[in-house]
Amino acid sequence: MDKQRLINIFDRQATQYENKREDPKQQRWRQNLIGHAKGNVLELAVGTGANFPFYPPEVKITAADFSKAMIDKARQAAKYHHLNAEFMCSDIEEISFSDQSFDTIVSTLSFCSYKNPLRMLDKINCWCKPDGRILFMEHGISSNFMVSVLQKALNPLLYRVYGCHHTRDIMGLMQESHVQIDKVESHWLNMVHLIWAKPTINN
Ligand SMILES: C[S@@+](CC[C@H](N)C(=O)[O-])C[C@H]1O[C@@H](n2cnc3c(N)ncnc32)[C@H](O)[C@@H]1O
Repeated sequence: MDKQRLINIFDRQATQYENKREDPKQQRWRQNLIGHAKGNVLELAVGTGANFPFYPPEVKITAADFSKAMIDKARQAAKYHHLNAEFMCSDIEEISFSDQSFDTIVSTLSFCSYKNPLRMLDKINCWCKPDGRILFMEHGISSNFMVSVLQKALNPLLYRVYGCHHTRDIMGLMQESHVQIDKVESHWLNMVHLIWAKPTINN
């Protein structure tokens, strides 16, 4: 799908994502993960700022998303939660930061959309400081055979409507990348993974 079409799909979903921020299950997962952020944080594909209530107050956040409608809502959320945050309306797959720029890199529900998720993981590995943290909450293909068959069958439609792949092998991608996993918690028949990771040193 071309990029502008994907951006339009996410622009149209901004209000829906804003409402989903209140989902109690997701809030518990986000709280569990985002409380580990420290220092200078990069949040990829921030959406409407669903993680913002859970950041420790002292962090400084750089948040990127290519949907202006999402960024507008995230900006309001940052203000509401008194966060020190700056926003970039850009394609995160095309941005470059200097190596070792961030103490923490956060990605929640964003690896379903990237064109090249493995390349994105290796960029994150480079952007994170050697003693930094990389925090993920991602969804992908289930380890349950019947569920995975359904996901594969529905994926073309779901991608066209929501801009989101449902068949990505998240743990496989992590293992193929330079990111080192410290801890994983998997939920919903292994469709959702909370991952605490760190970069490979000397990246
Ligand atoms: C499924 S939503 C998740 C939003 C948020 N991270 C959350 O946890 O609720 C995916 C977000 O990724 C953004 N996105 C997808 N691909 C992107 C890219 N290449 N660059 C920047 N943002 C992107 C979309 O605009 C959307 O806001």
